[in-house]
Amino acid sequence: MVICAGLARKPGMTREDLRDVNAGIVKEVAEKVYQYSPNCFMIVVTNPVDTMTWVAKKYAKLGKTRIVGMAGVLDATRFRHFISLELGVSNEDVHAMVMGLHGEDMVPLPSYSSVSGIPITQLISKERIKDMVARTQDGGAEIVKYLKTGSAYYAPASSIAQMVESVVRDKKRVLPCPVYMEGEYGIDGIFMGVPVMLGSSGVEKVYELHLTDEEKALLKKSADGVRKSVSQLKV
Ligand code: LAC
Repeated sequence: MVICAGLARKPGMTREDLRDVNAGIVKEVAEKVYQYSPNCFMIVVTNPVDTMTWVAKKYAKLGKTRIVGMAGVLDATRFRHFISLELGVSNEDVHAMVMGLHGEDMVPLPSYSSVSGIPITQLISKERIKDMVARTQDGGAEIVKYLKTGSAYYAPASSIAQMVESVVRDKKRVLPCPVYMEGEYGIDGIFMGVPVMLGSSGVEKVYELHLTDEEKALLKKSADGVRKSVSQLKV
């Protein structure tokens, strides 16, 4: 089950600006899900997605393996695109990892991004990587600015399709998704993007990567952002 219900942002809005109104909508949908489809596997897309997935889990009463958000696949696809543009290589050979919250403080990880296994840190200068990281963090807002009337839909739809296919066909793909954290990376009680394996049983594994101190600090900042958003919820 894919939950997209809610308002989309307009130019100048952040995802957080949607929090209160979308929380009410997601709560109502999740309560119905609990009533009619208590054993479903749920993908939440509504923004701010890390917080809305938390709301959906609470009211649909789903276990950790039965619910994820859609964010990291989209953010990593944007990062992949910028890497392929920069190097003039096919994006089919580009792998990219983006963890953390789905917002400005998301954490693109150049150290876990590569072209056919070649780390991008060996192919692209530090300066350019910094620009590409910033453009990835701002990717959603860039599209909203062009569309003017709403938020991105093509790339999010394609990301959702990949996630659904992995579950329905038991492909066991390893994709970054907001998942309920229970001590992984030292983080508890919130949803945040980390690599997970998606198969017919839902979230079949959560991967804990070795991160540098700098990367850990960025992830902590991301987690703090999600925690703050959740703490401000009125539902
Ligand atoms: C984006 C919206 C879906 O990043 O959050 O395009």
